[in-house]
Amino acid sequence: MIKTGLIGLGYWGPNLARVLAQAQKSDFTAVCDLDPARLQRLARQYPGVKTFADVNRFLDCGVDAVFIATPIGTHHDLARRALLAGKHVFVEKPLADTSARAAELTEIASSLSRTLMAGHTFVYSPPVVKIKELIDSGALGDVHYLSFSRVNLGLYSKDVDVVWDLAVHDVSILLYWLGEMPECAQSFGRCCVQRAKRDVANLWFQFPSGRVAWCEVSWLSPQKMRRTCIVGSERMVVYDDTEPSEKVRVYDKGVSLRRPENFGEFQLSYRMGDMVAPHLSNAEPLLIEVDHFLDCIEAGKQPRTGGRFGEDVVRAIEMATDIGWKPGCSLEDIFDRNVKPELAGEAA
Ligand SMILES: NC(=O)c1ccc[n+]([C@@H]2O[C@H](COP(=O)([O-])OP(=O)(O)OC[C@H]3O[C@@H](n4cnc5c(N)ncnc54)[C@H](O)[C@@H]3O)[C@@H](O)[C@H]2O)c1
Repeated sequence: MIKTGLIGLGYWGPNLARVLAQAQKSDFTAVCDLDPARLQRLARQYPGVKTFADVNRFLDCGVDAVFIATPIGTHHDLARRALLAGKHVFVEKPLADTSARAAELTEIASSLSRTLMAGHTFVYSPPVVKIKELIDSGALGDVHYLSFSRVNLGLYSKDVDVVWDLAVHDVSILLYWLGEMPECAQSFGRCCVQRAKRDVANLWFQFPSGRVAWCEVSWLSPQKMRRTCIVGSERMVVYDDTEPSEKVRVYDKGVSLRRPENFGEFQLSYRMGDMVAPHLSNAEPLLIEVDHFLDCIEAGKQPRTGGRFGEDVVRAIEMATDIGWKPGCSLEDIFDRNVKPELAGEAA
């Protein structure tokens, strides 16, 4: 059993608490939050768990592994302190607010032989893992492009914009599926409700393999949509996470260009085959993710979404949103000018 502790009992923390109390290898020992009412609520629910308002006292109470579910701006400081105190550390997504800070955490964890993992829950969800298998097995052929839509009304985050809240999920899925970093990225968006905080945005990525992807994210949309489309030369997949069943549908559809029989003639042929919905496990992704972290600690293995992966996700988001860093990019920066908070603020 690994003695586990949790920092942060806001919106997401209680989900982690439930799973930490449930996971077989976890001895859920302590929690920490600045808010006494949240600590009291948790103590009523899990009577054996110690509560702390002070992080130093929490880190001294004998936990082996620390889970961090606090606002993004606090991740680096809290994770650094926990690693330096000798703990294994799980940090909710994204690992840190800059790739430089994420890299520093990865280096500290590696130098102290501690397990560091970023909480990219979707990378552990059965539909996402199934699609990874389909891509890697070649069943889809060459992946031409991927499109992601993650939109709904709210929840407006207090500390970050919609890109750092919602697009982090899509970028983690994208990097996991493709196993390569983008060479070029762009984004544009708008601050519709609050000054200097984008609530709608589009991000584009181009990969060294030639594959392209785009993500649409919004907190300002009438309907909830969690839809991803992956188009390959052999098959196409629609992954709809709002579907109660058949979340993944694989279509034997496509278009191919036939060899011209006469000079100047070309013909397209359309393939309209069957749709298959693969069987998927109903296991809870958050529990799979926490079990994976505890297994990695025990085995001394690198997690699927370890420090390096968490760092790559942050770097890909930075590529799409920073004016300063776009190696080899040919598109105009004009799109990015629309997303810079101060410019958007001036325009509002
Ligand atoms: N994996 C997922 O699907 C998923 C979903 C939602 C949120 N998240 C992530 O979870 C994290 C938390 O998000 P949230 O919406 O729960 O935030 P929140 O603001 O609702 O809650 C944060 C909690 O942390 C506490 N806190 C802040 N600073 C602290 C400190 N220094 N020491 C101790 N406690 C402190 C606050 O009092 C609060 O209770 C974020 O990183 C977010 O991206 C992940």
